[in-house]
Amino acid sequence: MDMIPLFHNKHIVLGVCGGIAAYKTADLASKLTQAGALVDCILTESATKFIGPVTFAAVTGRAALTDADLWRTDAHVPHVQLGESADLTIIAPATANTLAKLAHGQADNMLSVVALAARCPIILVPAMDGGMWSNAATQANVETLRQRGFNVCGPAMGRMASGLVGAGRMEEPADILGFARVVLGKRSAFSGQKIVVTAGGTHEAIDPVRFIGNRSSGKQGFAIAQAAIDRGADVTLIVGASALPTPFGVTRINVESAQQMCEAVLAASREADALVMAAAVADFQAASQADQKIKKTKDTVDLEVKLVRTPDILQAVKEQREKTSGPRVTIGFAAETQNLLANATSKLHSKGLDLIIANDVSASDAGFAVDTNRVTLLDAGGGVEPLPIMSKAQVAEHVLNRLAALLK
Ligand code: PMT
Repeated sequence: MDMIPLFHNKHIVLGVCGGIAAYKTADLASKLTQAGALVDCILTESATKFIGPVTFAAVTGRAALTDADLWRTDAHVPHVQLGESADLTIIAPATANTLAKLAHGQADNMLSVVALAARCPIILVPAMDGGMWSNAATQANVETLRQRGFNVCGPAMGRMASGLVGAGRMEEPADILGFARVVLGKRSAFSGQKIVVTAGGTHEAIDPVRFIGNRSSGKQGFAIAQAAIDRGADVTLIVGASALPTPFGVTRINVESAQQMCEAVLAASREADALVMAAAVADFQAASQADQKIKKTKDTVDLEVKLVRTPDILQAVKEQREKTSGPRVTIGFAAETQNLLANATSKLHSKGLDLIIANDVSASDAGFAVDTNRVTLLDAGGGVEPLPIMSKAQVAEHVLNRLAALLK
């Protein structure tokens, strides 16, 4: 997993309670560490029946604490230090017993003491078998904790250790990480800002079976949406064709054609603070779509399809901005195979953009489908900022840094 700027050097307390899902928490500890966080794990007594502190120390490179550490005499009240220094606390799995302790302010072990001392956001990831989750006592405790501002992630539906199927499975580590990005990001620069992002390619139907498409995977747009979530934004992601998983916390709208994307973008961006058009929108569509699959006969030699222009979405947004307030900032992309800067500059001005991200899509390590991109940022004031080859996630960080300045 790549380093995630949001997690870099963040102190995260990861509490582990006594449930079979504790073995999955080791994977979560590893993911958080790879993302750049400093993870301090605390195991309850019952958690150590399922997994040892050595496992967590190995994946985090930091000491993993147990109740024995609560009575250490060689450290100054470690639980207060941990509570004070934490940027985020995650308790996964959070058992019914620990939820009850937290709801009633009980503090009789290292984890509950640290949780009581913590001043950072706390994420609870419940996991319990059978009917324990639906038990009135558990539900009342969870509701009490929600009302106090605790963030509850899950539980998921599925098969549990007892063989029962129902609500009680711990969410998967990747989803807990996504949830944590939303919680941690909420305190960042874009908190309260509404950002619309488009990604992926459009499909322009020729008949019920065939369409004209392009090679866009959606990676660059999804990376921008994820980076915006990390900065606390309210993100709407309008997606053409893409198989990528939706970043946690994003509102996803799926469309097919340029026409549908145009309608969705205009509706979503009217009250938005920013629009980032990373989607590969077709410039042409079939003049007419056949109602039935176009059949070839033994004499068929060729097939002519008349193409006409699709709506120019950024042009429509420019006209909308002139009549309404939104979006305050528009950022476009330019996918070129020649005359990169000239073509990008022309689009920057003709579409009334605040910034355009120019990428040479003929390069094998940039543009469509690859994980890297080589872009030049051109702004309306004439600034030109060429960036070296980097991951699309890093490009997204640069784009959002520029967006932050434009939104000021
Ligand atoms: O999705 P990936 O596989 O990660 O690939 C990333 C990408 C190459 C698709 C991305 O970096 C990119 O360049 N996206 C823009 C592709 C594109 O349509 O560029 P364009 O130069 O044809 O269009 C210029 C701008 O106008 C773009 O912001 C585009 O979204 C927008 N547009 C295009 C056509 C249209 N009818 N309406 C539009 O608003």
